Amino acid sequence: MTVSLTIRRPDDWHLHLRDGAVLRAVLPESTRHFARAIIMPNLVPPVVTAADAGAYRDRILSALPDGAAFEPLMTLYLTEDTDPDDVAAAHASGLVRAVKLYPAGATTNSASGVRDFDKVRPVLERMAEIGLPLCVHGEVTDAEIDIFDREAVFIDRVLDPLRRATPDLHVVMEHITTAQGVQYAQSAEAGLGATITTHHLVINRNHILVGGIRPHYYCLPVAKREEHRLALRAAATGGDSRFFLGTDSAPHVDPLKETACGCAGCFTATNTLSILAHVFEEEAALDRLEGFTSLHGPAFYGLPANTDRITLTRTDTPVVFPAKIDSGDGAITVFDPGYPVFWQAP
Ligand code: NCD
Ligand code: ZN
Repeated sequence: MTVSLTIRRPDDWHLHLRDGAVLRAVLPESTRHFARAIIMPNLVPPVVTAADAGAYRDRILSALPDGAAFEPLMTLYLTEDTDPDDVAAAHASGLVRAVKLYPAGATTNSASGVRDFDKVRPVLERMAEIGLPLCVHGEVTDAEIDIFDREAVFIDRVLDPLRRATPDLHVVMEHITTAQGVQYAQSAEAGLGATITTHHLVINRNHILVGGIRPHYYCLPVAKREEHRLALRAAATGGDSRFFLGTDSAPHVDPLKETACGCAGCFTATNTLSILAHVFEEEAALDRLEGFTSLHGPAFYGLPANTDRITLTRTDTPVVFPAKIDSGDGAITVFDPGYPVFWQAP
């Protein structure tokens, strides 16, 4: 049995750090293990301009724990008013690594997202020209589309036409949750990647709803049927470089989760690596963990892989994680995989 596993230091290609007290509380949970992260821009108000991204980056850097070497890779929140020149300048200076597309109303803090895709065509054209990737929250928002079908319908109605109209645009399908998402990512020849979260490898929709409603398993896109979870596990552990880790670790304080209308988001930064090692071991794919967490993402984004390494150790007794992180604004519940995990990350 493998007792330890040394891999290049991972990166997180989809992370919510928030701001203020919550930022200060959750940042160490990511910097402990991750060297870099693509930082989601859905603050209130969102990170829309290069100036916003620069200011947010400074707030993240000043919240870093002592001695942490962590590089926040900033993103811009795409709106119908986004200025292609501002985006190009933010990219040229190295500040911004991606632009994030939220269909208006799709998820937490997405009200300023895109309604009319024709309005963002000039920005997308410019991004294709300069090689700046578009990270896509892939769900339609039409009221008549069932929430469990929103990703598959988005691929047909929005994503595929968008990619055909702008074939040189590099696109990341963020946090895919369906077999259709896996198949679509696999169908592309180049320029298309997909992130997969830790929690979608662990839970299906029964975990949210059977035996009582479990708000800490509610996130968007919502977890789907078991067959989809299995397709995601096969994709993540299969060694295909189009798939890489984006935890979508999305903290909300408990009162906002445990309420009549709770926020979407699972907070997984604390135990992501331990859970991933567990999943990859179950799939007899521990040798592919490094590709998923540390190699495929940098390759997609055209960045070097990290050169330092971390060692995960298999323990005899279950690793104990904090149940909650205290943020000063309230407690944030750490994702519970529902089973003991025996891989200790440093
Ligand atoms: C995210 C959040 O809370 O900001 N929530 C979530 O359920 N994943 C938004 C998002 O990425 O959709
Ligand atoms: Zn997210």
